[in-house]
Amino acid sequence: MERIEKGLLASNSDFQRDLLRSAARAALTAGAIIRELYEKPHDIKMKGVIDLVTEADLAAEAVIIASLQEDFPEISFLAEESANDIQAQKDKQFWIIDPLDGTTNFAHGLPIFGVSIALWDQDCCRAGVVYCPMQDELFWATKGGGAWVNERQIQVTNTDMLIQALVATGFPYDIHKHLDDIIDQLQNILPKVRDIRRCGAAAVDLAYLACGRVDGFWELDLKPWDTAAGMLLVTEAGGKVSDFAGKQYNPFIPEIVASNSLLHQKIVALLEWV
Ligand code: IPD
Ligand code: CA
Ligand code: CA
Repeated sequence: MERIEKGLLASNSDFQRDLLRSAARAALTAGAIIRELYEKPHDIKMKGVIDLVTEADLAAEAVIIASLQEDFPEISFLAEESANDIQAQKDKQFWIIDPLDGTTNFAHGLPIFGVSIALWDQDCCRAGVVYCPMQDELFWATKGGGAWVNERQIQVTNTDMLIQALVATGFPYDIHKHLDDIIDQLQNILPKVRDIRRCGAAAVDLAYLACGRVDGFWELDLKPWDTAAGMLLVTEAGGKVSDFAGKQYNPFIPEIVASNSLLHQKIVALLEWV
């Protein structure tokens, strides 16, 4: 936890500092469990034709909820693998949790995945973390306090030409419903950029955008737990987040465009042609 304390001085309220400490503690604990399970045989169940859930998703979620509730018993949660979503969304404040973003990568032994936890407060995120256990990278942000990876403050890139941009995207589990749109998006964007990455974990894509590893990201049909923490990371790192039309984004909107700000309109314009 030492890795966040120096950066936390930049945070502008005790409440946000406490939220961040709590989210970081939960994410690091879950990350340690996921790291341990990574090398072992997996217990894989199907949620859909290509949508998996593993023993690690369930173990991580249980430990995250227990840890957050120990610190803030009054705050409810919206978590991917649990059923109490509806109650949480009636509350003013709640945690938004993806216990393991990048389950398919995890199940295949590809070490790109993360734990994502954010505190939603009426109309904004107050604190968010994305922890990548295999790299031991804790990406974190508080509203108004900047974005960080471990003890280093991070910023988006200043690339302003699409042809010099590395952009990322992802594909939803109900791909067949969206196949034509996705192919059209790729057809518009691929020839205009340096390259496209599909890392396999939306929360990690957003964290990588926040720290300058990619310049832009878009995906359709995401859930609040995929983007809540990542959205805060990107905006606190100087980036921009919107829906496909360039309008204001919140994690309950399924489509997201995120960028280093400078490329935003250019990516939106390419998506609008679809
Ligand atoms: C998925 C990942 C993936 C994205 C999917 C998400 P999960 O989350 O973020 O990159 O393309 O749309 O559902 O199931 O691994 O938590
Ligand atoms: Ca996810
Ligand atoms: Ca997940």
